[in-house]
Amino acid sequence: MKTIKIPYSPRPQQRVLHNALDKYRFAVCVMHRRAGKTVFAINHLIKLALTSKKKNFRGAFFSPTRVQSKLIAADYLKEFSRAVPGIKYNETELRMDYPTGGRVQLFGAENPDAARGQYFDFVVCDEYAQMDSRMFAEIIRPAIADRLGSCLFIGTPQGMNSFYDLFEDAKSLPDWYTCMFKASETGLVIKEELESARKLMTEDQYQQEFECSWTANLQGAIYGKIISKMEDDKKISHYPYDPGYPVDVYFDLGISDQTAILFTQQIGRALFIIDCYNDSNKSLDFYADYIKKKQYNIRNYVFPHDVEQRELSTGHTRKEYAFSMGMRPIKVCPKLPIEDGVHAGQILLAKTYIDRSNCKPFLDAMKWYHRKWLDKQRVFSKPVHDHSSHYADAFRTCAIAIRDLDLDENRRLEKFAQGTDYNPLNTRN
Ligand SMILES: Nc1ncnc2c1ncn2[C@@H]1O[C@H](COP(=O)(O)OP(=O)(O)OP(=O)(O)O)[C@@H](O)[C@H]1O
Ligand SMILES: [Mg+2]
Repeated sequence: MKTIKIPYSPRPQQRVLHNALDKYRFAVCVMHRRAGKTVFAINHLIKLALTSKKKNFRGAFFSPTRVQSKLIAADYLKEFSRAVPGIKYNETELRMDYPTGGRVQLFGAENPDAARGQYFDFVVCDEYAQMDSRMFAEIIRPAIADRLGSCLFIGTPQGMNSFYDLFEDAKSLPDWYTCMFKASETGLVIKEELESARKLMTEDQYQQEFECSWTANLQGAIYGKIISKMEDDKKISHYPYDPGYPVDVYFDLGISDQTAILFTQQIGRALFIIDCYNDSNKSLDFYADYIKKKQYNIRNYVFPHDVEQRELSTGHTRKEYAFSMGMRPIKVCPKLPIEDGVHAGQILLAKTYIDRSNCKPFLDAMKWYHRKWLDKQRVFSKPVHDHSSHYADAFRTCAIAIRDLDLDENRRLEKFAQGTDYNPLNTRN
């Protein structure tokens, strides 16, 4: 057998990824800028086109646009394939045919229909953060179904978009490989170059592009930076229910909208968020039942102020309903301006520990909760009302209630006893 020498020698990280792709069907690789993502992906396609046991191997490479594929990936494809005798490159179709019968074709994700009707054995989505997430479901997944093809998603973060969701979901799927390579860990970009880049970028941009932060550059993120620090301090980890302490339940109640529920425990000065739940179009008895089934030792059910509004149709309040369903004792959080609640939330979050596996939807919402930049006024808006607001509002209720309500009666009595000379056993004179 003739040996062909491809002018590519993988960097250690690229070698790790080539090996992983041989074992896993799907991979999500998050890597910093200039780490060698595109070179790695193209070389993996070339390797498969030359060595795959599948007859007439078909590989596809998607950049966010066809122009990007043509400008960057096509050069790599030609350069690294040039040692292979008998190759044919079709400039119009951005397609390389190999003498093995294998083929690698480049596409732009802005026009995925160009790839319709073909089968693929291996697909690369390079800079997936910039692609429309429907592309995978509608174009790629069906195209790899015939021959049980594989798919690699690779890129640098760009906020909490579908690339983030895919990365987080993939972590718990058995045939998916995930990895994250930050510039401070790989050493692939020399120190001087990183320092020079840092001078020209904002810290948030640098954290996104070189340290793979999903949240740093999210414009107007309200809790993003605190959550990144919590990750570094290992405050988001395995913190499940501790039966030795009671649980407080906080609500954000929606009627036709979403309802969000947080389960917390106060242990010493710290708050632990041990669990969460959200749903929509469900009645209060559904939530009462759901909470009961958890079998937590519940100390308080804490609702936002609107629970005291009387419903026109029945003349009763939702507080009365909640009480009659066994949700007691009930505490009602005072109404405060939203900015006061957000401020209280930021202070509380710094003292909070979160159970990662039970609270993923809560964490996602808190990372996303943000303000919009208003160009004309040159200010940030009030927090945007979207899917993230419900959990953020439940947390805001928690932050105000912990501060302003007497949630823990014993602690109040302890404080009282410490601050007075009162002794209930003393008799007069
Ligand atoms: N194994 C390797 N050996 C030598 N040079 C490499 C290797 N892999 C990548 N490079 C070089 O590193 C640089 C960046 O490579 P590449 O374009 O693949 O990075 P990237 O992570 O896709 O960058 P970007 O984030 O800008 O898209 C290029 O100059 C490329 O030639
Ligand atoms: Mg690239």
